[in-house]
Amino acid sequence: MLYPLIRAALFTLDPEDAHRFTLAGLDVAHRLGLLNLLPRAQGRPVRVMGIDFPNPVGLAAGLDKDGAHIDALGALGFGFIEIGTVTPRPQAGNPQPRLFRLPRAEAIINRMGFNNLGVDNLVKNVRASAYPGVLGINIGKNKDTPNEHAVDDYLACLDKVYPHAHYVTVNISSPNTQGLRELQKDDALDALLSALKHRQSDLAQQHGKYVPIALKIAPDLDDAQIAAIAALLMMHRIDAVIATNTTLAREAVAGLPNADEAGGLSGAPVRAASTRVVRELARHLRHEVPIIGVGGILSGADAREKIDAGASLVQLYSGLIYRGPALVRECVQALA
Ligand SMILES: Cc1cc2nc3c(=O)[nH]c(=O)nc-3n(C[C@H](O)[C@H](O)[C@H](O)COP(=O)(O)O)c2cc1C
Repeated sequence: MLYPLIRAALFTLDPEDAHRFTLAGLDVAHRLGLLNLLPRAQGRPVRVMGIDFPNPVGLAAGLDKDGAHIDALGALGFGFIEIGTVTPRPQAGNPQPRLFRLPRAEAIINRMGFNNLGVDNLVKNVRASAYPGVLGINIGKNKDTPNEHAVDDYLACLDKVYPHAHYVTVNISSPNTQGLRELQKDDALDALLSALKHRQSDLAQQHGKYVPIALKIAPDLDDAQIAAIAALLMMHRIDAVIATNTTLAREAVAGLPNADEAGGLSGAPVRAASTRVVRELARHLRHEVPIIGVGGILSGADAREKIDAGASLVQLYSGLIYRGPALVRECVQALA
């Protein structure tokens, strides 16, 4: 009930300042034990990728890129938290401003460009955290690594995060790193998935545990592209697919302030496109590879829509900005 007031205040700030301020506030509230006072919904436990989740509602990647706020975010009632995208070396990301609100559409446009402090720093933060729940770590490539060497960046990150993650997400779908989405194409994807599976098998031996790998894809794919990706996911026995990242499409927000900003659009306007990708993937994958549905979930009914389309788990990002932490509870309840 308080969140609409907090939101009104936050929306007077620059979006990136509001982001930092909110996370700092959450950390304080967590240290004071206040987050434990939030009402909790009784969740439905699920087993996906061989992992037991207390409920199927997760935090999507990008909100805590460096894993600097895991404990506080973990206290909001999520069934799992995904941190990152992290790259092998630290990088500043794109020049500011790079984050824009479109409140009338309940949407966000971002062109952050994988701003992060590098994988070593993220691992340090994970080791320092006391979060007992399921943790996914989302990995990417540095901006200045050419696509011919992208595989090396993913493998370098996989090596370092493997012992600390319950699952690892391979992000090839951010629109804000030039050429990244090219990795979704046939030959490039085949080579990437093959390299990752080989390394996963070596790491499983080395660490004595199997850590699943999920692939995160874009909503801007036609049916033939989705079919081709699904075939490769099954062929390489990838453990899960996350659908979707942000969209380059602007039809749903045409004419609104900030609609012409470059970057990825998220929130309510991407909902239908993401659900379409989930449904199309489910048709091809036939339960062989589990799907994590993300994109435009702003209510319990939206979460339900992703599950009905074939997802086993869901994730939230933009909805949290517009609805606050009560959205977690609403989604957990809707899927219970
Ligand atoms: C500001 C912002 C930053 C994001 N950064 C990342 C990221 O680093 N890695 C990633 O895989 N997805 C990132 N995403 C995409 C989200 O994880 C999610 O896939 C997308 O926003 C769709 O979900 P939503 O409509 O609930 O926001 C980002 C989204 C936003 C809004």
